[in-house]
Amino acid sequence: MGWWLKQFTLPFLAWSLIFNGLSYSEQVPKYTFMKDATSAPPILSYDYIIIGGGTCGCPLAATLSQGARVLVLERGGSPYINPEKIDINNFVNSLSDITPSSFAQQFISRDGVLNARARVLGGGSVLNAGFYSRASSKYIRESGWNETLAKESYKWVEKKVVFEPPMMQWQSAVRNGLIEVGVLPYNGFNLDHMHGTKVGGTIFDKNGKRHTAADLLEYAEPRRISVYLHATVHKILFNYNTEKRRPQAYGVIFKDAFGIMHRAYLNKKSKNEIILSAGAIGSPQLLMLSGIGPASHLHVHGIKVVLDQPLVGQGMADNPMNVVVVPSPIPVEVSLVQTVGITRFGSFIEAASGLSFGHSWSERLQGIFEFVSNQTLQHSMFPTKTKESIADTIGSLTNPTLKGGVILEKIMGPRSTGHLELLTNNPNDNPSVTFNYFKDPADLRMCVEGMKTIIDVINSNAFSKFRYHNMPVQALIDFMLHLPMNSRPKHSSAAYSLEQYCIDTVLTIWHYHGGCQSGKVVDHNFKVIGVEALRVIDGSTFYRSPGTNPQATVMMLGRYMGEKILKKRFFHGKK
Ligand SMILES: Cc1cc2nc3c(=O)[nH]c(=O)nc-3n(C[C@H](O)[C@H](O)[C@H](O)COP(=O)(O)OP(=O)(O)OC[C@H]3O[C@@H](n4cnc5c(N)ncnc54)[C@H](O)[C@@H]3O)c2cc1C
Ligand SMILES: *[C@@H]1O[C@H](CO)[C@@H](O)[C@H](O)[C@H]1NC(C)=O
Ligand SMILES: *[C@@H]1O[C@H](CO)[C@@H](O)[C@H](O)[C@H]1NC(C)=O
Repeated sequence: MGWWLKQFTLPFLAWSLIFNGLSYSEQVPKYTFMKDATSAPPILSYDYIIIGGGTCGCPLAATLSQGARVLVLERGGSPYINPEKIDINNFVNSLSDITPSSFAQQFISRDGVLNARARVLGGGSVLNAGFYSRASSKYIRESGWNETLAKESYKWVEKKVVFEPPMMQWQSAVRNGLIEVGVLPYNGFNLDHMHGTKVGGTIFDKNGKRHTAADLLEYAEPRRISVYLHATVHKILFNYNTEKRRPQAYGVIFKDAFGIMHRAYLNKKSKNEIILSAGAIGSPQLLMLSGIGPASHLHVHGIKVVLDQPLVGQGMADNPMNVVVVPSPIPVEVSLVQTVGITRFGSFIEAASGLSFGHSWSERLQGIFEFVSNQTLQHSMFPTKTKESIADTIGSLTNPTLKGGVILEKIMGPRSTGHLELLTNNPNDNPSVTFNYFKDPADLRMCVEGMKTIIDVINSNAFSKFRYHNMPVQALIDFMLHLPMNSRPKHSSAAYSLEQYCIDTVLTIWHYHGGCQSGKVVDHNFKVIGVEALRVIDGSTFYRSPGTNPQATVMMLGRYMGEKILKKRFFHGKK
């Protein structure tokens, strides 16, 4: 290369490596087949091209590589570079990291709730709270899946990345509280979905080290798979299949960290396919950017229509999360979700404790709590002893590590849904997403019932050592109303009710799904309806969030579909 090119390339290279969170000493990759996309040839060809090496994409790719040549294109980096960054102590920090190389890309839905989507190999499993719990048999049956194969696939995942949680003091108190207030029966440590209280699985091992969907690539056949990192797919390419008389996907265009475009094509064989596993935000977004979506919306963005499909981006749903922060007079362990109460009215109660917040969070909390306590003290609503515990609360909540925890609820479903629309033609930009939390009154009823259960748990004997006794639950709830939970309108506490609490303090539990729903955008084999050689397999195909928390089923689905696709590939004629 010419001297002038070197002059520009070298500083750019160094800058780019720093930008992407790599350093020269950390370049020994976990897998021989994992490389930065800057080293990819300009043109590649494979049997399967998987867009998104996330929670579903990794198990899918590992499985397909057992019988075909597989390419994974992941826009994020490696989760193996700095394992500490993603361990249990750094849950909040990692999620609130807003540098360009962060594994979490934040977005705010039109509902005014701060949310995040993954940008890393392993996807959401690198950011999440780790709880692992299977879907109910009913969910599996209603999805039309083979129950035997689903069970085998869950086990395949569990063997590699699932652990029994330690269940220390805080988690045990919540579990016992749930039992005491009647979320029964108690089902012990159990990965299955059943009413009552149970201890679920977790992807954190006993040292708090996170295991992720990227670890499922250990199952891959190294000679038949390539995983490129920092490879952002910009477009799926289509030509016209004259025999089938419809568009057929034949390749993709992706951009590396230097801004250089590459093309990946399918090897010419009728069974080869492109599989979109970019998650519930990324998959509908990329379908639209590639010309599959509502024609009028695509026209607005100057995108050439390949297939007018008004249902792309519809059915977006996010299970609302509502929480109560409970400061504790005694120290608590660091824990993310380990136990769950699966109520009969459709609310799931979970808990976390000892979370570490960065200093900016602590400072913000400090200000709010000071403000609230000043007001409370002035109005003298509480007896003197309560004032002391409020002062304690301020102290305990503003430490970088929270002395206390949260009890939270997620509602089943949900029934309320919204939609996704493009804002720009850049796949790195967030689209506009609307979830319409609590639009359906049934969702609100579940939330209120769940809140009542949380209040009962806080008041239970089992939980009593973690509670300031002179501080009524009402005071905790008043605190919550002053926290900047979201940017939704707040209502005066005069109008306060549990309904209003649910609506005003809603957060996300990050279980959003939909946008490419099964039976609407994809058929029951996850093939995109109306085109050839393209599937979508990930959380965007769901109608409801599976199980109490979805990752078990998302990973299972990757394995499950990999098996099904390979079977079909090798057993011709068989249905
Ligand atoms: C903070 C948080 C906490 C959670 N807690 C839990 C929990 O405790 N238990 C649980 O079960 N679930 C939990 N979840 C939910 C769970 O992690 C997700 O439902 C799941 O990871 C979604 O998987 P997916 O494969 O559909 O998408 P993802 O895992 O997001 O995978 C999509 C991948 O595609 C990549 N991608 C997107 N667009 C492109 C493009 N154009 N080109 C190339 N690559 C692209 C992304 O970088 C990403 O890696 C949590 C999620 C979060 C964020
Ligand atoms: C379901 O999956 C099992 C395990 O892979 C398989 O043996 C069985 O034939 C499948 N059943 C159907 C109806 O496809
Ligand atoms: C709370 O009251 C103290 C003492 O009156 C005052 O110094 C402080 O600024 C107040 N804080 C807030 C946030 O209102």
